[in-house]
Amino acid sequence: MAEFTESRHGMWSNRWLFILAATGSAVGLGNIWKFPYITGENGGGAFVLIYLICIAVIGIPIMLAEVTIGRMGRLSPYGTMLSLGQKFGGTKYWSILGGVGAVTGITILSFYAVIGGWVLYYVFRLLLGEFNGADSEFVEGAFTSFVGSWWQVAGWFTLFMVITTSIVARGVEKGLEIAVKWTMPFLFILLLVVLVYGIFEGGFGRAVSFMFTVDFSVLKPSSILEAMGHAFFTLSLGMGAIMIYGAYVPSDVSLRGTVYIVAAADTVVALVAGLAVFSIAYAYSLDPAGGVGLLFQTTTLAFGNLPLGSFFGFLFFLTVSFATLTSAISLTEPIITWIVEATNASRARVSILIGIVVWVLGLGSVFSFNIWSDFHLVEGKTIFDFLDYLTQAWLFPVGGLLIGIFAGFFLPKSALGEQWGISEGWKLTIWTLLIGVVAPICVLIVFAGEIGVISLVAE
Ligand code: TRP
Repeated sequence: MAEFTESRHGMWSNRWLFILAATGSAVGLGNIWKFPYITGENGGGAFVLIYLICIAVIGIPIMLAEVTIGRMGRLSPYGTMLSLGQKFGGTKYWSILGGVGAVTGITILSFYAVIGGWVLYYVFRLLLGEFNGADSEFVEGAFTSFVGSWWQVAGWFTLFMVITTSIVARGVEKGLEIAVKWTMPFLFILLLVVLVYGIFEGGFGRAVSFMFTVDFSVLKPSSILEAMGHAFFTLSLGMGAIMIYGAYVPSDVSLRGTVYIVAAADTVVALVAGLAVFSIAYAYSLDPAGGVGLLFQTTTLAFGNLPLGSFFGFLFFLTVSFATLTSAISLTEPIITWIVEATNASRARVSILIGIVVWVLGLGSVFSFNIWSDFHLVEGKTIFDFLDYLTQAWLFPVGGLLIGIFAGFFLPKSALGEQWGISEGWKLTIWTLLIGVVAPICVLIVFAGEIGVISLVAE
């Protein structure tokens, strides 16, 4: 009972293309850069466990809800929530969810692309072989002096935005398939190279015990919200990116199977990245809680000391930059499709406009690491920190919660069954409950813990 069988913005040619695109969106800096460093900052095993639980009980159901809504509406997230909201939810206000999501998307992109620029800079430096024989002091110094230079960070950020915008302007399908098909396997292999290096250098045992020994006493009060927020972030949930990708899925594709594959691939990449990064951090006595520079310092150490390391390192950062791009693209899709629907302007023009807006917004994050590093918007948070916190701790979870409730309570069960290829029965009931009740309640519990209504962590 799909409203339309096709979306005006384009369609994936088959199921695999959708899996590739969704995986491309999901796997990105969140897995390779962010997961290791926030795991480090939050003490390891207990944080990882909570993150995995969030992926399973919140992430997978909400992802299914998002693609399902997307395919039923076949419009931009704003348009879809407006039309399905009026039809099944009885009000036009559900569209706010789509609108807020679209704005959230470019807000994230504004800081995401700054890190994307860092990655491009490292591609370049490895190409020049500048990390050959590096020690920990050298990699730390290289990172600190780079991010401290506002014009260098701004320059690479600008380059990243130009590349993203030119791809987005051409439409999602073209280019994305090739990018993801080649990037994902290479990325994975190169992460394994870093991991094997870490194993030989002797840090692997400590990395495993750090990531998988569960000790709840090291958790900070904010860790649970951070783990949940990251589960949303890493799966690209809560703001319509996966919804719009769902809108391009042909009607005969099974949605449930697809969602498992995407979630599994995303999780495996994050865990391998974590093990690789921590193995090297321990082998070279870098601080696992060292923050945003962790990925850049550990991997350059490994590649700097491997035979042919510059070449492999160059390939590594190149694949990371592709993974970052395929995620960045999905962050713009909800707002671009929305504006195209509202104004009938050409996709190319809208993309350029959005590119410029994101660039301007992003300067705040560029300067957060250098000239504005002492400017704090709220309690100790730079602009970069604040945007990161606001989106991942609050906007995604609230978005995801409402998406779950909408799909679980307002969409007719028969329509959901048809979308998922299951007829009435216990399976349908269980999925509807997971989406509409279990996942939203878990989100609410975490919020209650955060604002201190209940206590989830011993303080
Ligand atoms: N999931 C991506 C990552 O882990 C980031 C991302 C892309 C994203 N699209 C998104 C996050 C939409 C939230 C919402 O790197």
